[in-house]
Amino acid sequence: MSTVGEPISRVDGRLKATGRAIYTADTPLADAAHAAIVHSTIANGKTVSIDTGTAEKAPGVLAAFTHRNMPRINPTPKPWSHLHPHGQGYLPLQDEQIHYAGQPIALVVAKTRDQALHAATLVAVEYQAERAVLFNRETAREAVDPPQFLWPVASSVGDAEKGIREGDHKIAQTYTTSDRHHNQMEPHATVAAWDVGGRLTLYETTQHIFGARELISIVLGVPIENITVISHFLGGGFGGKAYVWPHTLLTAVAAKALNQPVRIQLTRAQMYSMVGHQPATIQTIELAADRDGKLTGIRHESTSPTSVFDSYIEYAAIASRHLWRASAGIATNHKVVHVNRNTPTAMRSPHEALGHFALESAMDELAYAAGIDPVKLRLLNDSETDPLSGRPFSTRAIRKCLVEGGARFGWNKRTFAPRSMRDGRYLIGQGVAGAVYTHWRWPAHARVTLKSDGSALLEAGMHELGTGTYTVMQQVVADALGLRPEKVTVRLGDTRLPASHAAIGSATMANAGASVMLAAKAARNKMIELALTGREAPFADSAPDELVVDDGALSLAHRPHKNVNITFAELLARNGMSELVANGNYDPVEEASGPKAVFSFAAVFAEVRVDPDLGLVRLNRLVGAYDPGRIINPKTARSQAIGGITWGVGQALLEQSETDPTTGRYLSRNYSGYLVPTNADIPNLDVMFVGEFDEEASPLGAKGLGELTAVSVAPAIANAVYHATGKRVRDLPITIEKIL
Ligand code: MOS
Repeated sequence: MSTVGEPISRVDGRLKATGRAIYTADTPLADAAHAAIVHSTIANGKTVSIDTGTAEKAPGVLAAFTHRNMPRINPTPKPWSHLHPHGQGYLPLQDEQIHYAGQPIALVVAKTRDQALHAATLVAVEYQAERAVLFNRETAREAVDPPQFLWPVASSVGDAEKGIREGDHKIAQTYTTSDRHHNQMEPHATVAAWDVGGRLTLYETTQHIFGARELISIVLGVPIENITVISHFLGGGFGGKAYVWPHTLLTAVAAKALNQPVRIQLTRAQMYSMVGHQPATIQTIELAADRDGKLTGIRHESTSPTSVFDSYIEYAAIASRHLWRASAGIATNHKVVHVNRNTPTAMRSPHEALGHFALESAMDELAYAAGIDPVKLRLLNDSETDPLSGRPFSTRAIRKCLVEGGARFGWNKRTFAPRSMRDGRYLIGQGVAGAVYTHWRWPAHARVTLKSDGSALLEAGMHELGTGTYTVMQQVVADALGLRPEKVTVRLGDTRLPASHAAIGSATMANAGASVMLAAKAARNKMIELALTGREAPFADSAPDELVVDDGALSLAHRPHKNVNITFAELLARNGMSELVANGNYDPVEEASGPKAVFSFAAVFAEVRVDPDLGLVRLNRLVGAYDPGRIINPKTARSQAIGGITWGVGQALLEQSETDPTTGRYLSRNYSGYLVPTNADIPNLDVMFVGEFDEEASPLGAKGLGELTAVSVAPAIANAVYHATGKRVRDLPITIEKIL
């Protein structure tokens, strides 16, 4: 009975659709008070006075905190790491300084949420304001070299300058992307409860329960074993819930000070300044190719804004480190500009989704400069080895993505010249872009318990972001144990369970999934052991590899008396066991030290329809061809792809967070001002998976999928817009005024 590979529907679908899934803000704690945050209205300077007197006398108010009475918080650890994941290093309510608009400057706790929100409006603040430094082309000239936090900041292989000098066809352009905000359906929430023994239970909207526990242990000075972090369901994470943000610390500290549970739920507007966002980028690219279109050199540099106190790097140029080969060399670099804003963070395919806009737009420009079909140009520059490390790729089906995706799209019917395709009065354009996405290898642990009734329980500190973790992990256990999926219960999202990694970087299936598979296989082996050597062993004269599991029973694979079997329940009973427990410990090599380079790949084909009078761009259709290794569940995988492509459409055509140049505040802080795609913006999306089992990526054969699917949607659309109109838009999003 093979369950992996089946398009199983969400096991938690009914729970969610009927409102019975308990999200963080729903946590039933009757005696919890509610917190409300007061924000700075200026972007730079300091508070001269904060008067909480009126607020404290307002109905239901229990306490008001400012930097004067807020308990001290330990500094966040430096350097930042995936195990010490602070959202920003500057901690709330610790001094009178103001570094960004929307910075928390006071906290009011009251019996009800309305009382807290009302009282927060009664806090009177006097500021001493200074001019805010904002990100723009002028301040970008003050960019500095940041310290490394994820990958090396700069890279250089061979001699890129020489390759660019000696090329026959050259492109040198600047591409820019806008500030973008997360806007998950579920706003961030925290419920903090301390018990009399000083133990903290934190119900938290987090993609990393163990990281949150570790960080909170450090900054609040609480032993790690005294903290439990719980997250059973998330209404979207997308990187915005990967790290610990100030509202979480405020809530935990207030709950301790008041000796009462406290809850907070950020408003949609608060999600603009209380948690991270994606910073704008200014990227410069130089590409050169020989007469035939083979790349000789690539230079890619990206500059992005960060806060005055942190050095978040948007690693946009990493796209150019791994996608295409260039005979003479490739050089990349990143710089940051410290400005008055909150610290940016990972968001919906960070780094790659921005860098590919520049790289794959430039490749299209090169195709037109050289007169070569854009798909053919990419096939010409395919690489057997990772250009950065020189290691062979474990699997790399980008050629298949380009060829089979192109066939599905009907690329051969496309005419090369811009403005050469029409549908009535509309201009039709078709564009393509390739993509490479990082694969992460992280340790993970899981536990599988076989119960006396023949069912199984999986327990692991994994996360359900809305992606289908409960479902796919159930599948992996069912597959290894030969159980029907509904016989497997999954428990996740609790630090009391075996430790797993952050649900970021599209890494859950390959890594957490591997630990689940190992645990389930260990349980199966223990069952086989019992059947061979236990009490009244039914298969005493057989070898372990002669036994198979199917539908909750063990039987012989290739024997005449094949119909002889024993159920798991019987086997446990016969051995006087109420249950059988097995652990799975997945401990992969670090990605950089693996023998092979592991990446996911894609090719995206987009067709747009442009109204020549209005400059309005509509996506007509899109084919995404993906190589994320082996697919565990085609249904949830396709859903991930549809979601990812939709992000990409937002990035390409709609999403842009503008900052008021005078006040330094984000202008739009809700769905009416900050546009994201709706159903009417998204046509039929055609998704195909062309990858194969990748044993280097994971024992499950899977590589990263979710975020891959948002990458290169924007350049495919931008290239299609060029093909339709002859206009090259090098600034996202592609709005009407840039076409006219
Ligand atoms: Mo993703 S932006 O690594 O949650």
